[in-house]
Amino acid sequence: MTSDAQEQNVREVREVRDVSDAGGTGLGEDSPQEWYADDGLWVDFAPAMFSGDRADTVAALVREAALLDFPAGSRVLDLCCGPGLFLVPLAERGYQVTGVDLSPAMLERARAACDRAGADVELVRADMLDYTEPGGYDVILNVFTSFGYFTDPADNLQVLRNARRSLAPGGRLLVDVMGKEVLAGWIGRPQAVDLPDGSYVVQRDTVLDSWRRLRTDWTLVRGDTARTSTIHSFLYSAAELHDLFVEAGFTDVEIFGDFDGGPYDHHSRRLIVQGRTS
Ligand SMILES: C[S@@+](CC[C@H](N)C(=O)[O-])C[C@H]1O[C@@H](n2cnc3c(N)ncnc32)[C@H](O)[C@@H]1O
Repeated sequence: MTSDAQEQNVREVREVRDVSDAGGTGLGEDSPQEWYADDGLWVDFAPAMFSGDRADTVAALVREAALLDFPAGSRVLDLCCGPGLFLVPLAERGYQVTGVDLSPAMLERARAACDRAGADVELVRADMLDYTEPGGYDVILNVFTSFGYFTDPADNLQVLRNARRSLAPGGRLLVDVMGKEVLAGWIGRPQAVDLPDGSYVVQRDTVLDSWRRLRTDWTLVRGDTARTSTIHSFLYSAAELHDLFVEAGFTDVEIFGDFDGGPYDHHSRRLIVQGRTS
C-alpha cells in the first residue's frame, strides 16, 4: 500500500458515516425533536451513565460473557453504542465491529476511544428507527436500556424489524433492558449518585400508563446550578419483550438475566432477550 493509500485508509476508518436525516454533524430541521435526540442530555449525564467504573465492568464482561462469545471475525453491530464502552472490548475479542448512534457527541467520544486503543471500528450516525444494512451483521447488540424510546409502540417494533433485516441468516439480536418485574422491586425512591468532580445526579422514576411506560427525571447538580432532563421509555416484562421479538419475526427467542446466560428471575438485575434469524 502506498503512503497515500494508507492515509486514505486511515481517514476512512476514522470518519463517522452519517446516514441520519440531518446530515452534517448537527441536528437538522428534519431531525426528531424528541428527548433522545437532545445531544446535551447524553453529554451532561455522561459521567453518571458512562463512568470509568462502568467502562471497566463492561470490558471484563465482554472478555468473559458466554452470551458475547461469537465465532472469531463475526460482524457485530452495537446499536446505540453511545461513547463506545462496548466497541473496543468487542474489537479486542476479535470481532468486526460497527457502532451506530444518533448523537454526534457520543460518536465523537466513541471515535476517540477507538483511536486511542487502535481499534478498527466503523462508526455510523443513524436513527435506529431507520437504520438497516440488509444482511450486514451476524450479531446485533442493543444494551444498557437503549430500547423502547419511541412513543408509538409500532416504532419500537420497527427497530426490531430493522435489526432482523440487518442480520444474516442464523444471526442473532440481543436486547438488554431493565425488566418491568425487576424494576417493580425497587422503584419509588429517588436515587443520588455522587460524581468525581463533586457534582451529583438525582434520578427519580415515575411509572406511567398502567406500567406501560416509565418517566425518569435526571437532575444534575453542579455547584449552584441544576439541569433536569426527562427520559421516556417503554417498560417491558420478559413475556412482552419475548412476544415483540416473535412479532418482529425472530425465532428461538430466549430470556436471560445476565450475559453469562443465567435465568431471569427475582435475583436478576437485567432482562436480556436473544432472538435469531432463520
Ligand atoms: C443509555 S445510552 C447507552 C449507550 C451504550 N449502549 C452503553 O451501553 O453505554 C443510549 C444511547 O442511545 C442513543 N440513541 C438514542 N436514541 C437513538 C436513536 N433513535 N437512534 C440511535 N441512537 C439513539 C443515545 O445517543 C445514547 O448514546
